[in-house]
Order: sequence, then structure tokens, then C-alpha cells
Amino acid sequence: MVIDKTLIEDIKSSTNIVDVIGEVVSLNRAGRNYLGLCPFHKEKTPSFNVIEDRQFYHCFGCGKSGDVFKFLEEYRQISFQESVKVLADRLGIAVSIDVPRQVQQQNSPNQAFYDLHEDALKFYHAVLMTTKIGEAARAYLYERGMTDELLKTFQIGLSPDEPDYLYQSVSKKYDEEVLTESGLFNLSENNRIFDTFKNRIMFPLKNEFGKTIGFSGRVWTKEDIEKGQAKYKNTRATRIFNKSYELYHLDQAKPVIQKTHEVYLMEGFMDVIAAYRAGHVNAVASMGTALTPEHVNRLRKLTKKIVLTYDGDKPGQNAIAKSLELLSDFQVDIVKIPDSMDPDEYLQKTSEKALGKLLVESRISDVEFWIGQLKPANVDNLQAEIAYVEQIAKIIAKSPSVTAQNSYISKVADLLPDFDFFQVEQAVNNARLTMRNQQMAQLSAASNSAYESSASGFRGTVKLPSTPKITGLRRAENQLFHRMLNHPMILNDYRMRDDFFFQTPELEELFQILKRDGQIDTVALSVLSQEVQTAYYQVLEEILPPETNLEEVQAIEERRNHFLREQDFRKQSKQIRESSNHGDVDAAVEALQMLIAQKRDME
Ligand code: GTP
Ligand code: MN
Repeated sequence: MVIDKTLIEDIKSSTNIVDVIGEVVSLNRAGRNYLGLCPFHKEKTPSFNVIEDRQFYHCFGCGKSGDVFKFLEEYRQISFQESVKVLADRLGIAVSIDVPRQVQQQNSPNQAFYDLHEDALKFYHAVLMTTKIGEAARAYLYERGMTDELLKTFQIGLSPDEPDYLYQSVSKKYDEEVLTESGLFNLSENNRIFDTFKNRIMFPLKNEFGKTIGFSGRVWTKEDIEKGQAKYKNTRATRIFNKSYELYHLDQAKPVIQKTHEVYLMEGFMDVIAAYRAGHVNAVASMGTALTPEHVNRLRKLTKKIVLTYDGDKPGQNAIAKSLELLSDFQVDIVKIPDSMDPDEYLQKTSEKALGKLLVESRISDVEFWIGQLKPANVDNLQAEIAYVEQIAKIIAKSPSVTAQNSYISKVADLLPDFDFFQVEQAVNNARLTMRNQQMAQLSAASNSAYESSASGFRGTVKLPSTPKITGLRRAENQLFHRMLNHPMILNDYRMRDDFFFQTPELEELFQILKRDGQIDTVALSVLSQEVQTAYYQVLEEILPPETNLEEVQAIEERRNHFLREQDFRKQSKQIRESSNHGDVDAAVEALQMLIAQKRDME
């Protein structure tokens, strides 16, 4: 039968050869290509290349090459039409040709490896569930909240504390080569073969299609933990296991990811199991490595939305920062887990239901994550505040919705004592302009040079006004002084108030002169100190609408007072912290009482 040519092209262009081959050959990135052990001939050093941008493979060892269809034909020993059908199935496209199932299943050169792993899985699981030594390990797992049903679902096992128990039980069934290359056994110096995993709780690692391709074993006995053994030990890289490509639980999570359109990305196996217990099957974990571009490419096929659910501790937060770089074209939410816990610990502390709720309700956006992550440790340091605003403004400027931008701007302004909404907003606007100019410059650089050399051509970036580097308090006082200086009515109002003075000494000095003379003339100004003169010109730089009224001025003063109270507030909290650090309880209590009273006043 003949399959439509355009359909074949469609299938080919919707498929990435790296993914298809990556499913059966462990590939590593090598420059712009991928490199692995050739599945078509025996080799110890990799010479099998997959060239992603041109979508073909080539082996320098045996000379085999071809496109994705050819690969399947050779690898599975099937016809061209059958290979089209396999890839169509993979994409969920219906094509009407019948492929004999047996042919598909049997001829994989790696079949023996899969079979061996399946046997090992059954062996380890049986040891855990049915033996005397399994009983103690099960007790450990029950303690962690596991049930027999969960142990079955995740096919968890136990490797016995014996030199070669697994080897004894499977060695007769498999070729020497399969056994030694499987990663399940090690060769000692005197050529004896030992099991790789001894006395560990075994988590089977499966590929996307549910085939077991490796294991991760966790220490569980007190003695082993005390000996300082690595907590988890993974199968080494083999021809069927590539840890920078595989994701734990992806086989089970896949259909749910496609239904819910999102995936939880977690750090540990136990976290994925905790999510499952909490009713969220669409969770996966990397295999003890940081997230890789290969992981990201696989997830890209399934969804555009990632929910990062890393541990709440410092390393977890740093891992989020790293992962976000790789996930720039995804929509990313981040689950905030309290008290530095991981999802599994949170479940233990609370309940399955509470974790289920947390995973849905305790999410923040990537921008909110950065707002928290980049926040300076000491917000009293103006220099640090300014640097932070510049950094965060660039991130906020990229967020597509204006409503979201405004809410981020408020969040940042709320965190900083010396910035108000409008100042942060201005920084965001500047960042957006810079971004736009850079994009234009790139565009113009890419366009032809004749255009650039023409008189009207676009010439790089436009110089932008920089964000004024002054505090919110200072800004409000400058505006207030500006109004007094230019509106005699306002000045009169303040002349009559003996409760008012400026917090900024330079402005207070100018205010005294203004009250006395009704203006500040050049001569009066010239005798003042440099700082006071600078302060005067800074006021003149304020751009305010020409009309004003008492209400507006009161609002400015209210804003100033708000900053003042905040400043006081911070000073007192600091005092409380210091007093209690020095064990001065009385002073701490007294300061706290004042703080509470003040807070009540503010409300
Ligand atoms: P539990 O303590 O069993 O709850 O595991 P966890 O997931 O909380 O452990 P942790 O947060 O320390 O580590 C997260 C993941 O990193 C684990 O699931 C493993 O995949 C991996 N990992 C942790 N420790 C080791 C180790 O010693 N060696 C290796 N190769 N991987 C590890
Ligand atoms: Mn844990």
C-alpha cells in the first residue's frame, strides 16, 4: 500500500530524530551533535553521531547512516512503511497499515537488556515483599508512610546484603556480554562478578514506554547510613540508560500530563511518590542530576507548563534559579514549600490532602520567585536596593500582562523602604525601552548594511534617562518643596504650621530661608553649602504638573509620612532583634510594645 507523500513529510518534520534514537541509545551532547555507542556494531568508544539540525545519523565506525525512518527500519528490522506507522503512532496520527506487533517487539538489539532488567525488578521486588530480610526494610518504608499497595505500584524492591545473589539467579539466562554491560554487575580484580547493588531499597527506573532500564538504590539501615555511604546509588550509564535524558515516572505521568497540560518537576523519587499519594500523578523527577537540556526537550513535546516543585531549602531554591534559565520558553509556576521541606517531608508533617492542596494552591510565578530570590539581604542598604530594582525591573518588563506587571511592581515597592510604586514603575519602563532598543539594534544589524549607512538608518541604542537614584522619602520631600517654592498659597499654609519640618537637613535649611524671604534668590543660594545647593537643584529637576491644590500636596505629605513611619519601624525592629540577641529581654519587650502601639496608630 502507498502512504501519502506529504503525510510522510509531516511525520518527519514533527519528529525529532534525537528523541527517537535517544529512546534506545544513550546519547550525549557533543557540540551541536549527539554522540553514543553505535547500536549496529560492537564498540567501546562512541562513534555514532546524531546530527540534530539536519535530522540524520551517521556512524564513523560501521558507516551506517540515514534518517529517522531508516533508523527504525535498521534498528527494529521493519519495512519503511512500518517505520512510518511507528512514528505516526508516536505522534497520535492514524495511518491505515497493519504492522505485525511481534516484529516490532522482538528485534530490538537491546531486548536482552530489557529482559534482564525486568527479571532483576521482579527479583528485588520479591525479596522486599516476601523474605525475612525484606520485613525489616518494609518496616522502614512503612515508617515513611508507604503501604504494600504503593510498594506494588512503584515496584519497589530490596537488593539483598549478599555478594552476588542477583547474579546467581539470572546468570544462566543471559549472555556474558549482556550481563557485564547491563550495569547490574561489577567485575572484581580476580574476575569474580558481584552485584552492583547491595542492601539498598531499589527504585526501578523506566523509560517513557515503561521498560525498566536501570535502578536507583537507597541506603536504609542505620549501619550503612552511619558508614557514610552515598544515600542513593544509580545504575551507571549503559546503552539503555542515560541519566541526563530519562525522567523518573514519565511513563505513568505522560497521559496525565497530556490531559492536565502541566507537569510537576521534582527533585527526588520519594517526592514523586508523595505527589502520587496526594492525587497528582503528573509528577516526574530527574535522576539525581540537575535538569538538562535533554530533559527539557522531552517535556516540551508534552506540555508548555512546568510546575517546579523543588525542596524549600537553599540548594532547592538555587536549583530553581538554574532550571528557570533552561525553561525560558515555558510557562513556569513554582510551588513554595514551607520550612525548607521537600514534598515528601511536607506530606509526613501534614497529610496527603494537605500536600495535594499545597501543590495546587501554593504556587507563585517565576517573576515572583525572582522578586524573592534576588531581594537584598539587607533592605536598609540603599545601594543594594537600587541594584535590586534595576535587576528586577528587567525581569518584570518581560512579563506579558500589564496587570501582572503592576502587581509585581507593587510587590517590589512594598519590599523596599526607599522606593515607591512610581519609582519602580519608572525603572520597569526604562528596562522595557532598553530591551526594545536592543531588539531594534539587533534587527538593524541583521538587515543589510546599505540601510545602516544611509543617513536615516537606525543607529544603535538611544540614550535613555536613567532612573533617579534617590529614596522614596527624599523624592516626596523634593516634591513638597517644589510645590512650596512655586505656589505661594501652599507656602503660606506651611508657614503657619509649627509642627512641620523637613526630614532632609538640606531641605530644612532651604525651607527656613524660603519661609523668611518668600523665595530663594541667587545671592542667598550662593552662600549656602555645596550639599544644600545640590539639594535645591534636585528639587528644580522634579517634573510636576503646573497646577496643584491642597489635596495633592496633602497626599504628597502623607506619602512622605508613610516613608517616615516605615523608617522608624525598621529601626525599632532592628533594636528588638539586637536587644533579644543580647539577651536584654526588658529592652526587647519595651521596644516591642512601642512597635505594636505604633502599628495600631498606622492602622
Ligand atoms: P529521601 O531522603 O529518601 O527522602 O530522598 P530525597 O529525595 O529527599 O533526597 P535528596 O533531597 O537528598 O536528593 C534528591 C535526589 O537526589 C534523590 O532522589 C536522588 O535522585 C538524588 N541523590 C540524593 N543523594 C544522592 C547520592 O548520594 N548519590 C546520587 N547519585 N544521587 C543522590
Ligand atoms: Mn525526602
